[in-house]
Amino acid sequence: MSISPRFLDELRSRLTLSEMIGKRIKITRAGREYKACCPFHHEKSPSFTINDDKQFYHCFGCGAHGDVIKFTMEHDGLGFMEALELLCSEAGMQMPKPDPKAAQKAEKEKDLYACMDMAASWFQEQMLQPQNLEILSYIDKRGVDEKARELFRIGYAPSDGQALRKYLNDKGYEDKELIQLGLLKASSRGGQPYTFFRDRVMFPVMDRRGRVVAFGGRILPDHMRPKDRGDFTPPKYINTSDTPLFDKGRMLYGEHLARNAARDGHTLVVTEGYMDVIACHSAGFKGAVAPMGTALTDNQIASLWSMQVDDQKQPVLCFDGDNAGRRAAGRACENLLPLLKAGKSARFAFLPEGEDPDSLLKSGGREALQNILRSALSLFDFLWLSHTAGRNFDTPEARAGLDKSIMADVARISDGEVQRHYRELVKTQISESFFRNRYQNLQKAGASSSQGGARNSSPSQKYKPKPKRPVPRSPLAQRDIVGAKILLAAVINNPSLYEEVDDALGRIVIPHYTYDMLRQNLVTILSDEHEISALDLKKMLLERGFDEEMGDILNESVYVHAAFSRPEAMENIERSECVSKWRSIYEALQDTLLNQEIKQGWKQAILESDETKEGVLKDMVQGKQSGSV
Ligand code: UTP
Ligand code: MN
Repeated sequence: MSISPRFLDELRSRLTLSEMIGKRIKITRAGREYKACCPFHHEKSPSFTINDDKQFYHCFGCGAHGDVIKFTMEHDGLGFMEALELLCSEAGMQMPKPDPKAAQKAEKEKDLYACMDMAASWFQEQMLQPQNLEILSYIDKRGVDEKARELFRIGYAPSDGQALRKYLNDKGYEDKELIQLGLLKASSRGGQPYTFFRDRVMFPVMDRRGRVVAFGGRILPDHMRPKDRGDFTPPKYINTSDTPLFDKGRMLYGEHLARNAARDGHTLVVTEGYMDVIACHSAGFKGAVAPMGTALTDNQIASLWSMQVDDQKQPVLCFDGDNAGRRAAGRACENLLPLLKAGKSARFAFLPEGEDPDSLLKSGGREALQNILRSALSLFDFLWLSHTAGRNFDTPEARAGLDKSIMADVARISDGEVQRHYRELVKTQISESFFRNRYQNLQKAGASSSQGGARNSSPSQKYKPKPKRPVPRSPLAQRDIVGAKILLAAVINNPSLYEEVDDALGRIVIPHYTYDMLRQNLVTILSDEHEISALDLKKMLLERGFDEEMGDILNESVYVHAAFSRPEAMENIERSECVSKWRSIYEALQDTLLNQEIKQGWKQAILESDETKEGVLKDMVQGKQSGSV
């Protein structure tokens, strides 16, 4: 039905925008306008403005913008006609008379949704029947508690191929409609239509407004179902095919919950399956969604971006860390390139091989998944690594080849601005990464040929040996380097602190070659010399050849960040305060280091397919929360 613009104008002018919005959220007057905390994204200070004269609202935070009709649709989750109906009754206006055909169609649709809803409720009830207790306990054992079961409306479709049909026929739905909705299948042998889902755990698929539009049905585990006949193994999941209500390629499982979660500041996490979404949600990752058994379509990507309220929080796509997962990530990257826009991208997370988010949450808890998500690669990093990992670019020819192959991918980005930034970044990255490598190698070569034996046998060499391999560029940010310096300075200047932090100082590994050598020497000295003064300690470190490092560490540029690292700090600051401040910097650094290590390690392990390394990393991810690193 078409609504005339005149009618819409009339409706807008009869309603006061601020009044309508004020009924739903708290607004305050600010001059000629009103202000509020934006209901469409998570914020603490108001950037949402309402202008009654111009009849629109605008959010400077997330860009939400529209008139009273759009607000009602978005805020109340209504369709256009539903919003109009509501607003008309507010404004005391008559809805324009619909043409009878459209009305019939709308009526019909309403009916179809109601039918799917009834089916979902019926499956839910079946799950709770006493004879199906074993199925309920299977779901329970998989970690789905009652709350999650209700929220996701998980149910059970019994083996009887006629029960649901009879139930819905009795409610007035004809076989023809039920077939159209994918609930029944026509018999190919001229018999009665029978239900499509039999003896399966049922996952209703809901649209963004929470209406049931389709189902996925999971087979029961082997010991709970009859033996397969012959060598036919039924598929693990079957899903409703496309229907008038359901277009698989346009929907994401969990979308109705994720949309709200994203507004509350959650990151969108794209997983593979129904159980992953449910497990993620229960563990607090409420932005979880999944396509249904297919790769992400352009449409689903667009829908992710429409849910994303914060440009800083790109959706994270999860992949299995095996070969298939890596290939899938490659394909996703390829699909994404032409679609990228300013602020709209995705990150790539790789799970330990053979794990999905559901199983990882079970074995390692939320920390394990959190670590994986935190160390997700940006699209650029992934692209870069997929062109460079495990290869050598020592020669100009090799670098030209790299330039050419990456730029071919970059050329597929259709957004001009984004493409320009990618080009620039590729250029810098090529010159920076390989320049450093080459520079380091040359230095190393030069050092070994020009240095005589005398230097090598100097006393300091024993304590500060030259690295065997070129030291990789530290992945640490400046802030973390300062953190490491503070930890060292505090102990060197106040050696008595050592007995309170010996465990931590002994354990942390500073990914800066000579600082870490210094740390190791510090630990060796202090564990022998309990009463050593700061002065003697410094002398010993100087003798061991750490003059340069001490110069870096024991100076004002470090002390300004932490008074407790100054010489004689313990005379002015409570000992316990020094210790607790030291520890909190240690914890923060340890956290970044671990994440860095996992991230760097994953990059290598994932892209070079190094299984031992993956095993170690897997343990690391899972062991993190137990502090066993
Ligand atoms: P998986 O085989 O990884 O299953 O399929 P899962 O999600 O981990 O399920 P559990 O943990 O064994 O119960 C991932 C997703 O792919 C689709 C489903 O959407 C499933 O959730 N799929 C899988 C199908 O559509 N058909 C299949 O036969 C298998
Ligand atoms: Mn699984």
